[in-house]
Amino acid sequence: METVLSGIRPTGNLHIGNYYGAVTSFVRLQEEYKCFFFIADWHSLTTHPKPEDIRRSTRTILAEYLACGIDPQKSTIYIQSDVKEVLELYLYLNMNAYLGELERVTSFKEKARKQPDNVNAGLLTYPTLMAADILIHRANKVPVGKDQEQNMEMARLYANRFNNKYGKEYFPIPQSFSLVGQGVKIPGLDGSGKMGKSEGNCIYLCEEPSSIRKKVMRAVTDAGPQALNSEKPEVIQNLFTLLSVVSPKETYDYFDEKWNDMTLRYGDLKKQLAEDLINTLAPIRERILDFSSDTERLDRIALEGAEKAHESAAKTIRDVREIIGFRV
Ligand code: TYM
Repeated sequence: METVLSGIRPTGNLHIGNYYGAVTSFVRLQEEYKCFFFIADWHSLTTHPKPEDIRRSTRTILAEYLACGIDPQKSTIYIQSDVKEVLELYLYLNMNAYLGELERVTSFKEKARKQPDNVNAGLLTYPTLMAADILIHRANKVPVGKDQEQNMEMARLYANRFNNKYGKEYFPIPQSFSLVGQGVKIPGLDGSGKMGKSEGNCIYLCEEPSSIRKKVMRAVTDAGPQALNSEKPEVIQNLFTLLSVVSPKETYDYFDEKWNDMTLRYGDLKKQLAEDLINTLAPIRERILDFSSDTERLDRIALEGAEKAHESAAKTIRDVREIIGFRV
């Protein structure tokens, strides 16, 4: 049976970019595949969070994962830092990862530009840690959004490099996966490309309806359609992309037709989008409140997940040690 794996950094709350980019695909796949979902708390250390923030964010994300429908009976849900075998694989992969290729990664270059006083080695080797996360369970499919594509290419590079070096097809070559559409990118409401925590343009899964309405009504638009059947400029396309994921197809088609015959009023579209977002998120929000209130249950789920993940990871490390030439 093929293995599916994905992860999220615990920095704040889940937003609808995370949800449609990765989480909905996980939830569907867990019915058919062997699935691992984890919280990437080691990755979050690149920005030096406080211990209390790590603890709080990790529990928050865990509650939100569960509220989205990731089921600990069907999948293994764990916290990255509970599975120390990942670090051993990270070390082996780092020995065959080269400075030039790591420095060329776009997200590294961007971070180095944004935080010039904190260009740490963890930031540089972020892709090898991500490759270790994936390869430790020998995952075949990785549900991620478009923004992770370069990291996925690096994971494939390191899997191939290991296999070639030792002359053995040990690691499957992991493929990106999305049920929403390959390379899905949920846009922000500020016309600035992707929705993201650091972009400050998110709609969170736990967001109150009044706040969702406010954010959607403030979304950037333009002067309106200028010609019949014209191409939509990016800010308008962004609203339509959001409609395409949260609203029924008839709603999308209705507003698309209005765009094409130049009768579209952005206020109407925004009102509908806000209501469809609120309706989609309402049951998730309720379940988030429910899961968050029971920290004992959350801690128990994390512990059980850690044991299952450890078992799978330990097997890979035994094989890898033997392949490399270490005592097992
Ligand atoms: P992170 O925490 O930034 O995001 C988690 C997941 O959400 C997706 N995502 C989006 N998808 C579509 N549109 C958006 N606007 C959007 N914003 C976020 C991301 O693509 C991601 O799938 N490096 C990873 C965490 C990680 C990981 C892994 C993922 C660590 N190890 C191993 C998969 C496998 C990250 O920072 O995701």
